Amino acid sequence: MNEIMLSEESFTPEQAFYQDVVEGLSDSPKRLPSKYFYDHRGSELFEQICELEEYYLTRAELSMLDRVARDIAGSLPQISRIVEFGSGNCEKVQYLLDRHRGVRRYLPIDVSESFLLYHADRLMQRYQGLEVEPVVGDFNFPIRLEDTEGGSLGFFPGSTIGNLDRWEAIRFLRNAAESLGPKSYFLVGVDTLKDQDILLAAYDDGQGVTRDFNLNLLRRLEQELGAKIDIDQFEHEARFNEEHSRIEMHLRSRCNQNIRINGDTFSLAKGETIHTENSHKYTVENFQMLACLGGWEPRQVWLADRGMFSIHLLKRMD
Ligand code: SAH
Ligand code: AVI
Repeated sequence: MNEIMLSEESFTPEQAFYQDVVEGLSDSPKRLPSKYFYDHRGSELFEQICELEEYYLTRAELSMLDRVARDIAGSLPQISRIVEFGSGNCEKVQYLLDRHRGVRRYLPIDVSESFLLYHADRLMQRYQGLEVEPVVGDFNFPIRLEDTEGGSLGFFPGSTIGNLDRWEAIRFLRNAAESLGPKSYFLVGVDTLKDQDILLAAYDDGQGVTRDFNLNLLRRLEQELGAKIDIDQFEHEARFNEEHSRIEMHLRSRCNQNIRINGDTFSLAKGETIHTENSHKYTVENFQMLACLGGWEPRQVWLADRGMFSIHLLKRMD
């Protein structure tokens, strides 16, 4: 792996996890970063979410990807490298690779280490001749990429950008512009603002898979940090925050209880919540405004049936 994630602090991932948890549980209201959903089990639970009837996002994005890949293969033939942020099971990039035969290198970036390495390896076997260079790390930190002949395409599907708040998203987009370099393009999947009932159902499915995904965070605290928690005394909650145009996921305590980690005790009152995730929803115009603030010029947008999802092509402002 030649590429370097630039982190301002020199913590190991375990130390960073511990530090973020202590910081989040000491805050008021309590919060935990959503990137910690994703150990191997969390990534598998997310794959199950993508299959759910209520979770329309994946289906809607997949329904457009072949068309998008074809359209951009015509207009951006020079692309030789794809960098994917939060690559998960690397399924969606295959639509691009199938249409962009000139792509020589693929860099999937993800925090979910074993899941990333497994899927990167599978992709390498499927696309002989493609250099696949997985990068384990947090995409919020800048990444220094080697120079490449031809242009770079950033790929950020799934509306993962919606998990960042607006300032984080602008900072992320600026870092990506810096990393991807002059003349680069960025393809970003973004969930659209729609009827609240549809949104709420997508984050609180009938089978309880999203509940298990949310609770997986507490399971990681228990297993990896040795936390003492009564996980059964937490319930999953999804709510719509109108002011910020986002779905929020929380873990609500069913009783007065303590979480103990090392020497620290974090007390929760009955009904108190830990805020675990934001999923911002954007109109086309609002996302295009955000992209401009992040240093990217909107070039093209594709919308799924009934405007359920959007894919934006952006060009770096050089
Ligand atoms: N791109 C895939 C997966 C989306 S799920 C798809 O569209 O289906 C979000 C992915 O981003 C997960 O694989 C998760 O492990 C990864 N992820 C979440 N936060 C991250 C962060 N801060 N840095 C790097 N990867 C992250
Ligand atoms: C990865 N991310 C875009 C998903 C979302 O929709 O915010 C994660 C997720 N959370 C609950 N369900 C799916």
